Formats: sequence, C-alpha cells, structure tokens
Amino acid sequence: MITVLGSINLDQIGKVQRLPGPGETVLGTSFATAPGGKGANQALAARRAGANVHLAGAVGDDVFAAQALELLTSAGVNLENVHHRPGATGIAMILVDQRGENAIAVLPGANASLGPNEVARACERLGRGDMVLLQQEIPQVATRDALALSRQRGATSILNTAPFLDSTPEVADLADVVIANQTEFALLRGGDTSDLEAAIAERARLKAQTVIVTLGADGVRAATPDRSFFVPALRIEPVDTVGAGDTFCGYFAASLGDGLDLERAIERAAAAASLACLSPGAQPAIPLADAVTKAMADQG
Ligand code: RIB
Repeated sequence: MITVLGSINLDQIGKVQRLPGPGETVLGTSFATAPGGKGANQALAARRAGANVHLAGAVGDDVFAAQALELLTSAGVNLENVHHRPGATGIAMILVDQRGENAIAVLPGANASLGPNEVARACERLGRGDMVLLQQEIPQVATRDALALSRQRGATSILNTAPFLDSTPEVADLADVVIANQTEFALLRGGDTSDLEAAIAERARLKAQTVIVTLGADGVRAATPDRSFFVPALRIEPVDTVGAGDTFCGYFAASLGDGLDLERAIERAAAAASLACLSPGAQPAIPLADAVTKAMADQG
C-alpha cells in the first residue's frame, strides 16, 4: 500500500506566448481548470501505475472541492483520510508558455490545515512493506511527523523536495529516498554541484539514503550508498510539463512497491513523466500503465 500525504488543488491554467517578467502583463490565449496539487497528482500517478493508494489531505467546502477530487475518485484512490474543512480548497495559478514551460503560485487553502492529528490518522495502519510518499505543499511539521512515523513503523519513505523550503535540508535527512530536480538538489547540497554524479553519490553515502535527481529532457541521475547510475528520458516534444515531476514520483513509488529494482523503477517513472508532457494539465496528462509500457517498448 502507498500512503500519499499531501496537497490537493484545483489548478487555474492560462496559456501564454511567454511567461511575464516581474511587473509585466502579457495577453494569454486560453484558460482551463484541472485537478492538481502535488500530493493528489502523485497519488493519481501511483494509482494509474497500478498501486493501491491512500491519499491523506484536505479540501475546502467551496465549488472547487468536488472538481479537485473528481479524477482521484474515478480512479479508485482511497480518500477516507481526505478532510473537508470550512473555507477554500487549495488552488494553483499556473501560466504555461508556448514551449511548455510554466510558472506556478500555490494558495494553500485547506492544505494548510494538516497537522499532527491528520498525520497520525494517515499513518496508523503503516507497516513494513508499505510506502509513504510526501512533497512539501502542506505544513512542514506534518511532513516531518510523517517521515518520523514511517521510520518507526518500518515503512519506506519517499520525499519529493518540491517546492523547496528553508527547512527542506533538515527534513530530507529523515527520508529513505529523496527525489529532487536539479535546482532543488543544488539547494539541498548547499555547495558545488558541477560534478553532479559525484555530488549525488556523496549525499547518498553520507545520508545513507537513495538520492534521485530528475533532469527533465536530460533524464535522471540516481545513487544509493553503493552505486550510481543514469537513466535517459524518452525523446518527446513537450506541450506542457506541469505535473511531470509528480508523475515521476507516483510511478516510481508504485513500481518500487510492485517489486521492480531501483533502476527499472526509475526507467518506468522517467518514461511516464515524459508522456505526461504530451498533453495539457497535471492530472489529465498522467498516462495509464499500458501507455507507459508501450512507449518504453517503442523506444527500445
Ligand atoms: O507539480 C504540479 C502541481 O504543482 C500543480 O498541479 C499545482 O497544483 C501545484 O501544486
């Protein structure tokens, strides 16, 4: 079983020719809403990869709540630990440019209400062989508590360091597996990352954890305390990269839970993340397991 503790948002997505600079206004071309939030996206990705997934989080009592949960519900993610609070559901304001790059601001709403009680409830059935998947769009104290509980109960914890916070370096030390993009890894290391392979391997050895650094179109570098390796991304023309990192995390957790070894789990996750860049929106773009299997076979 995979327990995801994290944010649930309704994404408000505007398409623009180029992202505006500070103080600048640009005209856009289209607007859409779609379910999002890093926790919810990762839960759905793990579910679409075939895992039994429980999502713990919170939504408000506004019109966005039902939309935010729609795809999770239809996919069969267990939502019994999703709390309904008076007030606003989390939203993310997202601009996507014509190259598929994005800028995102998250307004947490109900996500900010998660605390020790919700964590204790989400983790009460955890045991050896289970996995906990975390990101950083909920109060950091909840993430830290979940990592500590996961360790106590012998479950495997995976922390995605997005979005990067001041306390991320301290919290990341508690995780069994850390997944960061290149910018986040540089902040986590707090030093020179010009030799990325060596820097990743050093962290894996020093912290006795698995370290995975996603490099977008350039693939993925990873290390355990004993070995390092590289996995390429699929060759694609991206339309929208929102949610690609979340797709990677969810597919990775599901694949590891399904018994794939680390390298095969990363290969499958990288392929799924590449496919997630081929259509707009976070959750709508997360591929089904069959599509990932086919794309991996097609690329040989
Ligand atoms: O990682 C993408 C997600 O970041 C979006 O779905 C948005 O909700 C923000 O949380």
